[in-house]
Amino acid sequence: MFVNMFVPSLARRAARPRAIRAFATGTRARSTAISADHDEAARLIALEVEHGAFNYAPLPVVLERGLGVHVWDVSGRRYLDFLSAYSAVNQGHSHPKILDALQRQAAKLTLTSRAFHNNMLGEYERFVTEYFGYDRVLPMNTGVEGGETALKLARRWGYDVKGIAKDEALVLFCTHNFWGRTISACSSSSDPSCRAGFGPYLPGVPLVPYNDLAALEAAFAQDGARIAGFMLEPIQGEAGVVVPHEGYLRGVRELCTRYNVLMIADEVQTGLCRTGKMLACDYEQVKPDVKPDVLVLGKALSGGVYPVSAVLSSDEVMLTLRPGEHGSTYGGNPLGCAVAMAALEVLREERLAENAALMGERLRAGLAAIGSAAVTTVRGRGLLNAIVIRPEGEKRNAGALCYAHKDAGLLAKPTHEHIIRLAPPLIITAAQIDEAIEIIAKETRRMFG
Ligand SMILES: Cc1ncc(COP(=O)(O)O)c(C=O)c1O
Repeated sequence: MFVNMFVPSLARRAARPRAIRAFATGTRARSTAISADHDEAARLIALEVEHGAFNYAPLPVVLERGLGVHVWDVSGRRYLDFLSAYSAVNQGHSHPKILDALQRQAAKLTLTSRAFHNNMLGEYERFVTEYFGYDRVLPMNTGVEGGETALKLARRWGYDVKGIAKDEALVLFCTHNFWGRTISACSSSSDPSCRAGFGPYLPGVPLVPYNDLAALEAAFAQDGARIAGFMLEPIQGEAGVVVPHEGYLRGVRELCTRYNVLMIADEVQTGLCRTGKMLACDYEQVKPDVKPDVLVLGKALSGGVYPVSAVLSSDEVMLTLRPGEHGSTYGGNPLGCAVAMAALEVLREERLAENAALMGERLRAGLAAIGSAAVTTVRGRGLLNAIVIRPEGEKRNAGALCYAHKDAGLLAKPTHEHIIRLAPPLIITAAQIDEAIEIIAKETRRMFG
């Protein structure tokens, strides 16, 4: 046992120099051309290469400051942030109201655990449930913990309320979904980079094709009695900003109701004004009220200053959990509660859904007109957008274009080899959108014609 545990780590160590070279290639190759100003960046990247796990492949830019839609690197160069920490920084970097809430609360009380009550949790729970119109909230920290919570809740509701036989519950997910990297998330993923090499997988989390009501109905018709929940992103972000057809969400809601299945909306990325509505599900809300049974939020719930996630649902679902069956040391801590209330207030006070809708239209119109045959598609809603590059030869890929954007002062990342997600903070102005369009247009034409 002892030996077995050590063999993989020795093997990893032996492979390290090659992996380090691969990780650092981008930086090293470019660093020769970069002035002494960039020595500090190179030093800091080298520290990560030497001491960190290689579970990310960041662009070689080292950021040290952010304000509004901008971030600055260690040599003082300013960039437009067109990723917003994967939509966590919807309210903009260092939002004064959110920072004020953070600082005030941090000076008083940060963490009690849920072993005791704290004076912020109840206030926050009332605030957030009224804000979104649900009976109850279960506070967690990260998005993936929110998804895990929803999965557990669905299973428990399935057994206690729907009457599914012991250990038979299924929770359906969509192909190309993304909800994090835990074993449950890997098990319910169709993406090899999330899944391959991490088995054995969690059972009971089958996939159905996204944006396909007939397939969903067929799955419900076949296994409906065992299906407790169906979890989906109202727009698939990581898959490349895939917007489902008009009527899909409404259809999902109807099918879930008909087959007594919980509709679980993962709005960790799409929620909180990102897509031009408070929730992306709101695009299809029609009378009578159509809303998910379980809503998962994260990321911008803290405006990017602190990990805060939340699962909202009804008494019927939420009260199936009993003390000791679920939780987290940090979930519901007073600091997170104070920050989340401020972050949610900012979304409303600054009308960020409206701005995201307007600026998103402006961005898509500008991108559609850049006149490069290399861009096949511009798509999205609000300020969750993507451009798709037509593949041609090895060099024409989204990664190369993101390097060029970085050098021109705009930071974005590919989601797949030929897709770039464009998701700036929602406080962005028309002039800043135009500046971004100009950079993207110029660099796309220069790189790909
Ligand atoms: C739709 C969706 N759900 C869940 C997650 C997981 O969030 P976190 O990284 O905070 O765990 C992500 C992360 O990108 C996401 O896009």
